[in-house]
Amino acid sequence: NKVVLAYSGGLDTSVIAKWLEDTYQCEVVTFTADLGQGEELEPARRKAEAMGIKEIFIDDLREEFVRDFVFPMFRANTIYEGEYLLGTSIARPLIAKRLVEIANETGADAIAHGATGKGNDQVRFELGAYALKPGIQVIAPWRDWDLNSRESLLAYCEQHNIPVENKQGKKSPYSMDANLLHISYEGGLLESPWNEPEEDMWLWSVSPEEAPNEPTYIELDYRHGDIVAINGEKMSPAQVLAHLNQVGGANGIGRVDIVENRYVGMKARGCYETPGGTIMLKAHRAIESITLDREVAHLKDELMPRYAKLIYNGYWWSPEREMLQQMIDNSQRYVNGKVRLKLYKGNVIVVGRKSKDTLFDESIATFEDDAGAYDQGDAGGFIKLNALRMRIAAKKGRSPLK
Ligand code: ARG
Ligand code: SIN
Repeated sequence: NKVVLAYSGGLDTSVIAKWLEDTYQCEVVTFTADLGQGEELEPARRKAEAMGIKEIFIDDLREEFVRDFVFPMFRANTIYEGEYLLGTSIARPLIAKRLVEIANETGADAIAHGATGKGNDQVRFELGAYALKPGIQVIAPWRDWDLNSRESLLAYCEQHNIPVENKQGKKSPYSMDANLLHISYEGGLLESPWNEPEEDMWLWSVSPEEAPNEPTYIELDYRHGDIVAINGEKMSPAQVLAHLNQVGGANGIGRVDIVENRYVGMKARGCYETPGGTIMLKAHRAIESITLDREVAHLKDELMPRYAKLIYNGYWWSPEREMLQQMIDNSQRYVNGKVRLKLYKGNVIVVGRKSKDTLFDESIATFEDDAGAYDQGDAGGFIKLNALRMRIAAKKGRSPLK
């Protein structure tokens, strides 16, 4: 039997590869994805080779990640618990999909991952894998083995000749996860929600205090709710996000420090840098503000928290997500045009929006003479009819004033 392992090249998943072979006498296939985490993947290949892995998959999934996962999610203005832009959550379904595809290609009957038994990631990987391959076996070593401390892990390496070359000399004190949408930090000093993160934890952005004194202006072109060009230059989805991360990070945009509710029931403190995503959320709302019908916009806003929760909890590959996605995608038909932004010391300030599909009618909205486009006399009856039920109730003695 054969197992496909989601392999980062780090210490934990290297130990897992060895442990799988030992515990199940199975062949291990490794899968490492480039999701734009900004790490060289060749060292992961060399490490897998050194461990005697015969089938090694290393895939550049950056375009697919942004095109088929990040952009569809941003069409809904998705945000979890008012703060979290779901940078880790949205990457997991793609990894689950590739694990299953590789299992199918290599004839493996199981997948394995390095997520702990306390987190959301295990749920996301496994719900995805079961949805896409119902008969799959799942192995989650962190839930099964007794290597529950760094010391026992290192001892295991020692015993089994697993090279422990500390990356860049020292190990980060945080549990981190990065891709084109965000970088996350959990654990270490952050485990007390009262502790302020140290400035040198943040890797992608300058602090707002250190950001330039001059604002940066950018123009984003939208087509069907997705950004297709920046400052007039056409870009692919991954290029768009990489560019926005760069200008956003340089202007101190996109840091959050939150306590969130994990699906497994506990609260967890996390810090995130999502510079490009923070810009996209604000800008997308701005282009929708002129192109969407009011009720369509409000209905989207009501359903958004449901959609966010379902992505957070790992239900990307569910029928309800697909149903919501079709509705969201349908709403984007006229979400075309241009947004102009000013980026300044941690702020994303919308300074202009225009579209050939705009519903903003200047001749009606004007405070000047509208030449009969809108009859103000109509408003009196509109208000009176809307007040009717309250007037009836008040006459019946139900006035809130008593
Ligand atoms: N708490 C965040 C989430 O659930 C981030 C998880 C980070 N994952 C990690 N393996 N460090 O989406
Ligand atoms: C983990 O426990 O593996 C990371 C945190 C999470 O999944 O929420």
